[in-house]
Amino acid sequence: MTVSIDTQGRVAIVTIDNPPVNASSQAVRAGLLEAVTKTEDDPDVDAVVLACAGRTFVAGADVREFDLPLMEPHLPDVIAAIEAASKPWVAAIHGTALGGGLELAMGCHFRIADPMARMGLPEVNLGLVPGAGGTVRLPRLVEAELALTMIAGGKPILANVALTAGLIDAIATSDLLDEAVALAVEHAAPRRTLENAVVGASDAEAFDKTATGLRRKVRGQESIAAAIDAVGRGVRLPADEALAAERAAFLALKSSDQARALRHIFFAERATLADPRAKLTPRPLQRIGVIGGGTMGVGIVSAFLMRGFEVTLIERDEASLHAGADRVHATLDSSAKRGLLPDLDAVSARFDTAIDYAALSDADLVIEAVFEDMEVKKQVFARLDQVTKPDAILATNTSYLDVNAIAAVLSDPSRAVGLHFFSPAHVMKLLEIVLPGAVAEDVVATAAKLSKSLGKIGVLSGVCDGFIGNRIMSAYRAEADRLLIDGASPDQVDSAMRAYGFPIGVFEMQDLAGLDIAWAMRKRRLAEGKISGGYIRIADRLCEIGRFGRKTGAGWYDHVDGTALPSEVVMSIIAEERQTMEAVGKAFATEDVMPRILGAMTREAEAVLAEGIARSAEDIDVVMVNGYSFPRWKGGPMFAARSAGG
Ligand code: COA
Repeated sequence: MTVSIDTQGRVAIVTIDNPPVNASSQAVRAGLLEAVTKTEDDPDVDAVVLACAGRTFVAGADVREFDLPLMEPHLPDVIAAIEAASKPWVAAIHGTALGGGLELAMGCHFRIADPMARMGLPEVNLGLVPGAGGTVRLPRLVEAELALTMIAGGKPILANVALTAGLIDAIATSDLLDEAVALAVEHAAPRRTLENAVVGASDAEAFDKTATGLRRKVRGQESIAAAIDAVGRGVRLPADEALAAERAAFLALKSSDQARALRHIFFAERATLADPRAKLTPRPLQRIGVIGGGTMGVGIVSAFLMRGFEVTLIERDEASLHAGADRVHATLDSSAKRGLLPDLDAVSARFDTAIDYAALSDADLVIEAVFEDMEVKKQVFARLDQVTKPDAILATNTSYLDVNAIAAVLSDPSRAVGLHFFSPAHVMKLLEIVLPGAVAEDVVATAAKLSKSLGKIGVLSGVCDGFIGNRIMSAYRAEADRLLIDGASPDQVDSAMRAYGFPIGVFEMQDLAGLDIAWAMRKRRLAEGKISGGYIRIADRLCEIGRFGRKTGAGWYDHVDGTALPSEVVMSIIAEERQTMEAVGKAFATEDVMPRILGAMTREAEAVLAEGIARSAEDIDVVMVNGYSFPRWKGGPMFAARSAGG
């Protein structure tokens, strides 16, 4: 039974059991409605506890139902029936009460949660607004401003925060269900959320200020703007009017392009490791070695430490080692300050440093994050081959180089893999798992498990220059350069990209990252004969005069007091290169920019797919959204192209 009823004394316990996450699917909604009738009618029941079996309280509406026609009973009606019940209902929350799950809990009259529980209304992340009273009930339990932040921001809050804010009445100290029953016995009468006044309604100014701040961050995502409006109505209108308007907004968004795109990404992110090798038994992983204490190395060390691993950082001399270790500690400190690390001392105690590679003799996995140079990487791998256990996995964090060639220096190349982290590695969710030809199947399984242990989204990639992501990015960067030759300005291209939804344009991005790194790479690729025909020299010429981007005060733009200004020097270099290439450089229409950029991106993506470098179009979308700022609400380049009929 999806919803069952037991009794403990005179308290009915209504249990939802709908694995994996107790989504409020049609069967759950129907079962709950029936439970309301039964418990109301049962003279032996005085109160009701609503609980869930398995790993979590209701984690939301069933996202798989969103593409189907609506099925009765609807969640708002189920919640209204619970709220109207004459006997008190107590929600017993464990795991995550999200979306419809939290709305259900708010329709109950009392709420108690496990100390580890998290609660939130993440609908905006799926292109929606709450559709079952969330925007009306939440500001009647917690400060309207907090309700707005939770609903428009979509981030869940922890049980202790929920308790202080007034969202829940208690945190269980030992047994959630027993304590929920006790709470139900204690309260003779229901207490209906909708009958509360809005919390902090008098401070309209603070609310409006928060709303304005949130609106600024919206960029192109419709659901966030709609959520701000919905909470505004929830706070200002009579409850019944606000509920009706909320439902209408939810239904309108449900079938919108953005919601479809966000659902696509939601499921694509959960399917990236659907490879038979990922299901095999992984090798044990506890002791990790990281070679190189630069930006990437420090981020990787921190990512592992934060997730319970023991880590040894290796650097070539004492000074570099100290500098690296200091940056690791600074990273951990700032995470602890943001409440992300409950026990900083325990985390630091798992961190060690060394100069001698011998310290890696018992490591289960070593990741090199040294200078991006094939010879240096090969030397590191050759030394690791000598000092590590024969079954230790050896990984390279290279973002371009041939992982097969690096693996080939090992006596057993099957233990080599690419782990391409994104900077900052302790924050960015994407992990490209690059599989050389000889890779052992259980190394794939271990890397897949590792990505989950690190809280990252692992995507499998074959070996090619740049793997999935950098290869597609190089292609659209090259197209951006061609746009300049054809008459566009850097500012025009960047503005078009921002208008599309990228947080930053392709040229601004290069100024931020530094032009010198890509320059070095182009020189290598030119030397290797990998670049031919129609090579555009504009970026090289900027580098030749020391314009490396923000760090030198000049790049594609002039950077003056933190502002990027179009540069005449750059425009004249572009004009010269147009002449050299015998291009006309006519006036370029801004609306022509994005089709060209997207076209280049999807052409390269199709090639990556055809060559078997990516497993699926969905994987490519996940990579571009999570690693390369492709707007999530467009679903990634492949989805966007398909939606546009491309
Ligand atoms: N509807 C349908 N299926 C869902 C779902 C939902 N709301 N939430 C999760 N699932 C499925 C996932 O697709 C996955 O299925 P799979 O095993 O076939 O791939 C499975 O449940 C487990 O989810 P996963 O995200 O891998 O587990 P987790 O433990 O890391 O996270 C949650 C659990 C609930 C925190 C997370 O799934 C989540 O945030 N879900 C969405 C919640 C939400 O947005 N609700 C509002 C909907 S309007």
